[in-house]
Amino acid sequence: MAEEAAKANIGVVGLAVMGSNLARNLASREGNTVAVFNRSPEKTDTLLEEHPEAEFIGTKSYEEFAASLSTPRTAIIMVKAGRGTDAVIDELVSVFEPGDIIVDGGNALFTDTIRREKAVRETGINFVGAGISGGEEGALKGPSIMPGGSAEAWETLGPILKSIAAVAEGEPCVTHVGTDGAGHFVKMIHNGIEYADMQLIAEAYDLIRRGTGKTPAEIADIFAEWNTGELESYLIEITAEVLRQVDAETGKPLVDVIVDQAGAKGTGAWTVQTALDLGIPVSGIAEAVFARSLSSKPAQRAASSDLPGPAEAWTVDDTDGFIEDVRLALYASKIIAYSQGFDEIVAGAEQYGWDIQKGEIAKIWRGGCIIRAQFLNRITEAYADQPGLVALLTAPYFRDALTQAEQAWRRVVIAAVQGGIPSPAFSSSLAYYDGLRADRLPAALVQGQRDFFGAHTYKRIDKEGTFHTLWSGDRTEIEAVDTH
Ligand code: 6PG
Repeated sequence: MAEEAAKANIGVVGLAVMGSNLARNLASREGNTVAVFNRSPEKTDTLLEEHPEAEFIGTKSYEEFAASLSTPRTAIIMVKAGRGTDAVIDELVSVFEPGDIIVDGGNALFTDTIRREKAVRETGINFVGAGISGGEEGALKGPSIMPGGSAEAWETLGPILKSIAAVAEGEPCVTHVGTDGAGHFVKMIHNGIEYADMQLIAEAYDLIRRGTGKTPAEIADIFAEWNTGELESYLIEITAEVLRQVDAETGKPLVDVIVDQAGAKGTGAWTVQTALDLGIPVSGIAEAVFARSLSSKPAQRAASSDLPGPAEAWTVDDTDGFIEDVRLALYASKIIAYSQGFDEIVAGAEQYGWDIQKGEIAKIWRGGCIIRAQFLNRITEAYADQPGLVALLTAPYFRDALTQAEQAWRRVVIAAVQGGIPSPAFSSSLAYYDGLRADRLPAALVQGQRDFFGAHTYKRIDKEGTFHTLWSGDRTEIEAVDTH
């Protein structure tokens, strides 16, 4: 009997940069043979030609792809999130069998993943929505991976994903996040935090540049210095590199040549939309999303450019003191962004019935992903010490950091307001902090207003019950019957 051709233990569908790099990462790990498929076969040919060293099996049809995989078949879809993903899933379902595993490694909306998982499960095939972070380089060298799906699928998939994930302090940056859409939900929050972190860093740069007159290259040195301390993170590191870059054509700092309109693919907006549905104030993340939208409104910006601002040009007196204040304000605001992101994870887990281990999420974000940062260890520790922690920012380490930063944070926001420098993420983070710590909020007045025009009722601080004031009558108060 002729010997059967060797089979692949894993497959990748979609060979654009992320897919190719992930396939190469998989193939580079001991014992893996990777079946690859792309809708246009030229991409498959190119990948095989450019990487003869890799254990690839190139395939030209879904049938061939399925036949080249050992069972249970496992395939990772790496196509642009959206309708294309549904089309590939349909194709794979038609050639796979019960017990096989389909993984969507794109940035899918978690509610799509819930829908897809339900539909695919009915065929007996496992469907796993896996968030993958780290960009092109991460896909190739080790991303942070956030898979959802069934425990059964994780059993087969776990060792493969562990073999290709980034490693932080000896641990692979992957964990089974929860069932169905949990992985993509957590990836969405990762991206929301990414947006906030990027906006905060951008505001810090803008304040320093406009307040002190330092050049981008000088500010690059400041960020490089900050990267040796508690702010140490991938985003701070790359910010220094971007600011140091000189445009070859004009000799100017590259940052001055780039059009100041930030793009977005939507994951930040999803984080905010979902937070609105869940009733979670992710104000720092929302401001970051809106700041990108505002930047990308050239007509409105041009029409508004002669609106009045501060009369005098703004500069700071104590350059070093201001830079240190900005560093502290950045750290404090960053803590708020992560705290808000974790609040949304808690609320999402409750809403969708996921058992998400928050400390584990912080752990798998320590390496490979875009928001990787030293202080994620502090988050893991905070949840390990107090599993029922109601607000991350109240954990001892973060409480101390906020206490240390508080005065500087206020000085920076005051300076920004006086100087007319837009700092929506810094100032909204501070407002959130002040809102949470306030003894009394003017929400009491809002309740009074609601009761006035809509008889929406209110509670009293001194007795049980629900009350309504007869605003159009004698303004006495009656105990209202709660109909809800
Ligand atoms: C990652 C990134 C990645 C990507 C997003 C955000 O974790 O590797 O988050 O998923 O950069 O698409 O991009 P936008 O800024 O274009 O929304």
